Amino acid sequence: MTYFSDTWDTLDGLLSGRSAVFAVCDENVKPAGAALGRCKSGKIPVKYVRVSERQKDMKLVLEICGWLLDKGADRNALVLAIGGGITSDLVGFAASIYKRGVKAAYVPTTLLAQVDAAIGGKTGVNFRNYKNMLGTIVEPEFTFVCSAFLKTLPEPVFRQGVAELLKAFLIENQNDNYRKAVRYFSGITSSTQYQDSTLLLPYIQSAAAVKEKIVAEDLYESGLRRVLNLGHTFAHGIEHLSRKWRLLSRPEPIPHGDAVAMGIVLAARLSRKTGLCAEPLDEQLREDFLSCGLKADCPYSPKEILKAARTDKKAEGEILHFVLLRGVGDVTVKDLKISEAIRAFENE
Ligand SMILES: NC(=O)c1ccc[n+]([C@@H]2O[C@H](COP(=O)([O-])OP(=O)(O)OC[C@H]3O[C@@H](n4cnc5c(N)ncnc54)[C@H](O)[C@@H]3O)[C@@H](O)[C@H]2O)c1
Ligand SMILES: [Zn+2]
Repeated sequence: MTYFSDTWDTLDGLLSGRSAVFAVCDENVKPAGAALGRCKSGKIPVKYVRVSERQKDMKLVLEICGWLLDKGADRNALVLAIGGGITSDLVGFAASIYKRGVKAAYVPTTLLAQVDAAIGGKTGVNFRNYKNMLGTIVEPEFTFVCSAFLKTLPEPVFRQGVAELLKAFLIENQNDNYRKAVRYFSGITSSTQYQDSTLLLPYIQSAAAVKEKIVAEDLYESGLRRVLNLGHTFAHGIEHLSRKWRLLSRPEPIPHGDAVAMGIVLAARLSRKTGLCAEPLDEQLREDFLSCGLKADCPYSPKEILKAARTDKKAEGEILHFVLLRGVGDVTVKDLKISEAIRAFENE
């Protein structure tokens, strides 16, 4: 169950009556952890963690499990994860294996985690250079989405979440949410604007609802859930290449949200090239993403990306599951051989 609020106090009600709550909080959101101390539900032990993709590993999972053991957490424990997607993935995984599994609840503090990572039950850590290679799928007891936490979020981190939010509306475009969101997010030019959490919350809520609805029908990704990977087959290839070819001009790898924006544009282009979509949707989406402050122009060729996408853990041999677009809010999954997809891009 996901609860939405633009004020923090509501969490108190969700925790009241629970005796064994243990919180793991991202160091960068200390004020949120400190606020737990003010909860009427009683004193909650908090462990602060420093997170990064590099530290998203079994070592930190075992450290969290060790802390729970030291604090005397038993099978009735509820482990609360406060932070972005790295924190919810790590802490959710630790909770799912501690004493063969205790309950977890998420308080996501990045836009990306509020519309994506903290919804849908996937947990995990990186292993041997593969992202999220070890993990579990266990639905949290609840997710508490509070837009007020985004006030402290640095703007570049905020933008990365916009890509996943727009992705949700490209999958399901109820009430023309996609166009409304493009208009709203392209109007945001400084962090003070997204600090107005009352305006932001309805977009978060609608995007999270798209994911929740799909996951409710297909928790274990046997079919429908695959549509949530819109743009991601390409994005994983792009991220792989950008980690491999760090240039002097671009020492940091391409962030995930930008890679997703580039990936969605490529998915729309492939949809056109395979005859699924008649309009130049790829061009339109590119302009939309650029106006929302995302980087939508990919520095690699489709051929390079698709070859790199072979390493994606969702690839099955030479076959990739592509999420293609017939239009905004109308997606379908098509299995194509990597060579077929490369050929389609080469067809002008
Ligand atoms: N489980 C899933 O279904 C799922 C889906 C999408 C992504 N993910 C995972 O999510 C991760 C990315 O999540 P993310 O983008 O939230 O990254 P993150 O957790 O690294 O957070 C980004 C940065 O923002 C900081 N931060 C977080 N909240 C803040 C706040 N309120 N104020 C100031 N700073 C804050 C963090 O310390 C970090 O430096 C990836 O590891 C990805 O694999 C999981
Ligand atoms: Zn993503």
